[in-house]
Amino acid sequence: MPIDLDAIRAQFPALSIVDNDVSRVYFDNPAGTQVPLSVVEKMRDCLIQSNANIQGNFRTSVQVDALIAETRQAMADLLNAPSPDEIVFGQNMTTITLHISRSIGRLLHEGDEIVLSRMDHDANVGPWLMLAEDLGLTVRWLPFDTESYEFDINMLDELLNERTKLVCVGYASNMTGTINDVKAICERAKAIGAITYIDAVQAVPHISTDVQDIGCDFLVCSAYKFFGPHQGILWGRRELMEGLVPYKVRPVSEKIPGCFETGTQSHEGMAGTLGAVDYFSWIGQTMARSYHTNYSQFSGRRQALHAAMDCLFDYETTMAKSLLGGLRQLPGVTVHGITDPAALDRRVPTVSFTVEGVPPDAVSRELAAQNIFVWSGHFYAVEAARLLGIYDQGSAVRVGPVHYNSAAEIDTLLNVLEDFLPRAHVA
Ligand SMILES: Cc1ncc(COP(=O)(O)O)c(C=O)c1O
Repeated sequence: MPIDLDAIRAQFPALSIVDNDVSRVYFDNPAGTQVPLSVVEKMRDCLIQSNANIQGNFRTSVQVDALIAETRQAMADLLNAPSPDEIVFGQNMTTITLHISRSIGRLLHEGDEIVLSRMDHDANVGPWLMLAEDLGLTVRWLPFDTESYEFDINMLDELLNERTKLVCVGYASNMTGTINDVKAICERAKAIGAITYIDAVQAVPHISTDVQDIGCDFLVCSAYKFFGPHQGILWGRRELMEGLVPYKVRPVSEKIPGCFETGTQSHEGMAGTLGAVDYFSWIGQTMARSYHTNYSQFSGRRQALHAAMDCLFDYETTMAKSLLGGLRQLPGVTVHGITDPAALDRRVPTVSFTVEGVPPDAVSRELAAQNIFVWSGHFYAVEAARLLGIYDQGSAVRVGPVHYNSAAEIDTLLNVLEDFLPRAHVA
């Protein structure tokens, strides 16, 4: 069953905003998505009805405790986590990673090795580089192939040895759009006893994410990339998290997950995150019934959520196909990611490209002038931009459709580029 795009778009008030008679086209989604009404309503309700600090004896505090518990369960369903106790909230993925890296660092010693990737956002690189500097760890870099835009698993095998203690990789790239085989990577890492830390910030908005199937130890994501508010989420394997020393103030409980949640959290952010999960669940119940059999091992909301993600991914793949097909026709355009129509199941629809002789910033400015929102730059995927050899030329233009975008919006973008690029070349 195809998705009902009108019904979907009606959920997102921001999508119908018009500026000077021109509709907004949101292709800046990899940097942050718009939110459905369910998110706004949950945040509003939280701020009006349950606005209190946690663990008190009075009504608003009891309510906010219940809301947090409900959101943990919702995130456990979205990530197929065994328990809501393994869900930790924080300000954003970067802050959570910087924070927990201190605790993970307590397990590491001088001379130990860690594997980082050249494809990742710096949020899954910088914190570990700093840890390596603090502790005297050796960093081994996993490159990706600049033709296939994928990791070569044999190269990982060459990097791993008995001194490897930690492997940090992204699930989906915010630059190339590649979906990495994190399951295979975790299997290799586990075989030598290394901890695995997966950045799923760009995966969760697009694909069914299953921490048990992946077999990772930690997985992090951000609700504002999956149609929720600014809220970071970490899933950690219970046995590991219980063995870590949490960096926290003394009155806070020693128990997971609270021991990793520093200070007063954004309760309204958690409420909004629940709203985002509710939204996926609505898709699962209304538009993705035929995908439920993909997840016959699950039931209830968990099944609906994972079915919804498969359904949305299929739709997004059709958009990626027309976007990539259209870009291929444009003069001087190089796409830095998988373009083979037969391999689109190995990428999310995030498409980065460069245009010979035209700076990425000039392209994003021209599109902005037409109310089409795209990013230009390295998107903090610094290592990837360097490996692709585009860092010194302003890196790339990134067009990031999600399921609420339409085929007509892709056409609008391609038409503007078709008109602009020949003129920009001459200039
Ligand atoms: C792949 C990836 N990882 C991590 C981050 C950082 O996320 P946050 O803003 O939640 O710290 C981003 C943000 O763009 C990202 O795209």
